[in-house]
Amino acid sequence: MVQDVNPGTILMSAQLRLLPPSLTFRFFMAAAVFHFFFWVAIGFSYDDVSTFSGGPGPVLSAIHILTLGVFAMTIMGAATQLIPVATGLAHRSLWPTQIAWWLFLPGTLIFLTGLNFSEQWIMQLGGLLTAAALLIFGFSIADLLRRSKVLKIPVRFAWLSMASLLVLVLLGLVLLENFIHGFLPDHQAIAASHVILALYGFMGLLLMGFSNILVPMFALSKSPPARNQQIAQWLAPIGLVLAVTGVLVNTEEIVGIAVVIGLIAVILHIQGMLWCLNSGMRKNLGLSFVLVKAGWVMLIVSLIASGLLVFDLLGEQGPAIFGAIVLIGWLATFLLGILQRIVPFLAAMNMSKKTKKPPRLSELGDETKLKLHAVCHGLAFVTITGGIASDKSLPILLGAVIGAVGALFFAWYVVAVARSYMVYHRESEATGPVSGD
Ligand code: HEM
Repeated sequence: MVQDVNPGTILMSAQLRLLPPSLTFRFFMAAAVFHFFFWVAIGFSYDDVSTFSGGPGPVLSAIHILTLGVFAMTIMGAATQLIPVATGLAHRSLWPTQIAWWLFLPGTLIFLTGLNFSEQWIMQLGGLLTAAALLIFGFSIADLLRRSKVLKIPVRFAWLSMASLLVLVLLGLVLLENFIHGFLPDHQAIAASHVILALYGFMGLLLMGFSNILVPMFALSKSPPARNQQIAQWLAPIGLVLAVTGVLVNTEEIVGIAVVIGLIAVILHIQGMLWCLNSGMRKNLGLSFVLVKAGWVMLIVSLIASGLLVFDLLGEQGPAIFGAIVLIGWLATFLLGILQRIVPFLAAMNMSKKTKKPPRLSELGDETKLKLHAVCHGLAFVTITGGIASDKSLPILLGAVIGAVGALFFAWYVVAVARSYMVYHRESEATGPVSGD
């Protein structure tokens, strides 16, 4: 059984659905900047990282620099552009995205400040602005999904992700309120539900859906065989609901079953993605796919770690070890791999509309910076996780410094691509059409 649309054909109509580059690139630029500040924030709170197990303060702020500033920011930019390209539908209006951006950037900054200094009203104000931005984004994506008649599997994954986003945001606001009024009978269970829905629901399900489009598109393959993706599509939300139910009713066995179901879903999904990579015409997908593959491995490791955590088998530093694996090992690695692929890809697509011959993808930015970033990222992850596991804070500081250096290389690359793009536009306006065109 094959999926309904071959994503390779999406590329042909993609030009028609390109948004103004300034709209999408601001999200990617912001993600690259927040990425650097995440490592800086970890560096400043290195002494508290390995013992962190929840509650406001610098570590929670650092976590949200990564989850909101890098992950959600990247997803907002990518989904706003890629869903119209993939479905062939236009946004009814770009105003919701503009508004979401103007609420999300300041909202996130205010929220992070409030969390960092444990200042109630500041974190609440920031939380509300951020929540409003995420919900506006979610509704603008839902409007596209509702109208889409193609790409059933990715679209269903995206629906499930948007539903998780709605619930995680509401739970986040409830948790903030509970910091002051303490009305929840079990704050810990709601915090765990927020985390599960944020990481495996909002992020995980959307990434599974997007991968069904992006991996075949970049590998120049057919869509993965539909059956495994369809089974994964049922199992993943069942696992998610069971995991949340398990933490809410405080029953480890239910969470354990959820983890096994989640693992089967993820393995079926990854198997389909590897099928695309093996059968695709483009074999050498470069460094970005090294990160993507490492991200898949760490996704599996994160699920195993979550199971061990639930049964108290990860030791005293269990929550922090799991946090490092899921946030840095899986999501940051995977998303930075995707980001370094779509930034030059979208820049190049926007250039080919012009009259001057566009540069090759590899000429847009110096890929050495990406190699240096990848090495730093890997080293930072290993050093920090090792530091947490051995309850030593110095490796965490060292890892944060290495991570920050890597993030600078990454940001430098993104800026270089944006610069090439601007130079190209300036020059193509000055010169005439390409000869032979
Ligand atoms: C409006 C948006 C959000 C608000 C108001 C919010 C609020 C909160 C709050 C209050 C906590 C603390 C729970 C505790 O007491 O320990 C928390 C934890 C957490 N949140 Fe969010 N959050 C938001 C969005 C997100 C998103 C989008 C993600 C991920 C993509 C995320 C990931 C996490 C993680 C990983 C933790 C765990 C910290 C720990 O280990 O305790 N949050 N969030």
